[in-house]
Amino acid sequence: MYLGIDLGTSGVKVLLMAPDQTVVASATSPLDVQRRQTGWSEQNPTDWISATEQAIEQLKADHAKALSAVKGIGLSGQMHGAVLLDRADRVLRPCILWNDTRSHVEAATLDADPRFRKITGNIVFPGFTAPKLVWVKKHEPAIFEATAKVLLPKDYLRLWLTGEHISEMSDAAGTSWLDVKHRTWSDVLLEATGLTRAHMPALVEGTQPAGMLRKELAERWGVSGPVTVAGGAGDNAASACGAGTVSAGAAFLSLGTSGVLFAATDRYLPNPESAVHTFCHALPGTWHQMGVILSATDSLNWLSGITGASAADLSAELGESLRAPSSVTFLPYLSGERTPHNDALIRGSFTGIEHATDRSRLTQAVMEGVAFAFRDNLEALRQAGTVLERVMAVGGGSRSPYWLKAIATALNLPVDVPEDSDRGTAFGAARLGLIAATGADPASVCTPPPIARTIEPERSLRDAFEEAYARFRKLYPAIRGVSS
Ligand code: XUL
Repeated sequence: MYLGIDLGTSGVKVLLMAPDQTVVASATSPLDVQRRQTGWSEQNPTDWISATEQAIEQLKADHAKALSAVKGIGLSGQMHGAVLLDRADRVLRPCILWNDTRSHVEAATLDADPRFRKITGNIVFPGFTAPKLVWVKKHEPAIFEATAKVLLPKDYLRLWLTGEHISEMSDAAGTSWLDVKHRTWSDVLLEATGLTRAHMPALVEGTQPAGMLRKELAERWGVSGPVTVAGGAGDNAASACGAGTVSAGAAFLSLGTSGVLFAATDRYLPNPESAVHTFCHALPGTWHQMGVILSATDSLNWLSGITGASAADLSAELGESLRAPSSVTFLPYLSGERTPHNDALIRGSFTGIEHATDRSRLTQAVMEGVAFAFRDNLEALRQAGTVLERVMAVGGGSRSPYWLKAIATALNLPVDVPEDSDRGTAFGAARLGLIAATGADPASVCTPPPIARTIEPERSLRDAFEEAYARFRKLYPAIRGVSS
């Protein structure tokens, strides 16, 4: 048996996978985000451990026998967060998460130093790890001084699981400290932020062993033999392993808290100018490009919060037949935007509201706004030289057929929906656990799942969607002109 542990932003998911890759069971435990100030987004790392323990307990309740046979664990997680530890591995402050934009000034300063884009192949986005440390150095100098190690979220779980400080290439690529082409920490970039290699965990490939499960935890979970913990991956690269997006030409679209358009590449192909992310993949010798939207299902969850209707009910209210866009346009920039704008200060908006605008029109506009943000990402990938022919949909939001139709039509691309929605991030992590524990060939493990159906663009609405997209494009510069 193999266990995938995915540390998401809204919860921890654990998934048990049999050696033939059948999903045996999964369990989740929710997490909250603390937003103490505008633009801030934090979580307490100890909550991740409690949530993981709770999810494992749920698995154990019904699947103790399968759990006892676990041989390998794969970790995946929300990327970029900064977990700061002192010499005794004590957490020094809440983790500053990937969608926290407080360090936008520090990010812009680092980004203006040409060495960062040259060595990392990426813009230094405010959400990335290095500018967070510069912010801490400036605003919380005692904490910066006491920091002995900087870990990414899933690697903090690894520390608890194995006692080791280890990370892997796909997640490390999102720190702004990795030489992404050569897959090693950059001493030059670490020094530019007042750190050294000693502050960093050791690095492995996502498919390699990276620690053994501690005896105490193995006993508590009832696991009999030794358990290898794989390097694992950042959540997007792990999803790619689950969706079989591991060789050039394959792509997926993830409709989760964040939205991601991800394309695997067999070479390092940086293009920071279009705000595309170029990261190492979890498999050795592979890379990927992706565009990232900060608020995807988060936008619908926000509407759900203020209307009091669940996201599923809001979605169901629209029915399944795609409507032409109304006069209402939504910009989904609730916490700024990465691709293509790299703008931490922009905020979302509804425009074109009229008397006839009811709740369902707002839901429709939110879904279209996210679909158009994906279209912006598609254009950014095109500029970076990657042309997509079709995409596979993954993530919680892909359960809404309406949303997928809007996305297929906005992108003018067929969207494939896998048969089993459980074959996502935690499944990809479990696959990495299998590879690390058995030495299996990564490419033959990370195959695409069977496709249940393909959602084609709605031809009759293509023109209406193009017009609405043109309106969406014009709104960003207009809104930027009036927001601080
Ligand atoms: C990727 C990113 C997000 C987080 C969310 O760059 O910031 O997708 O990984 O989990």
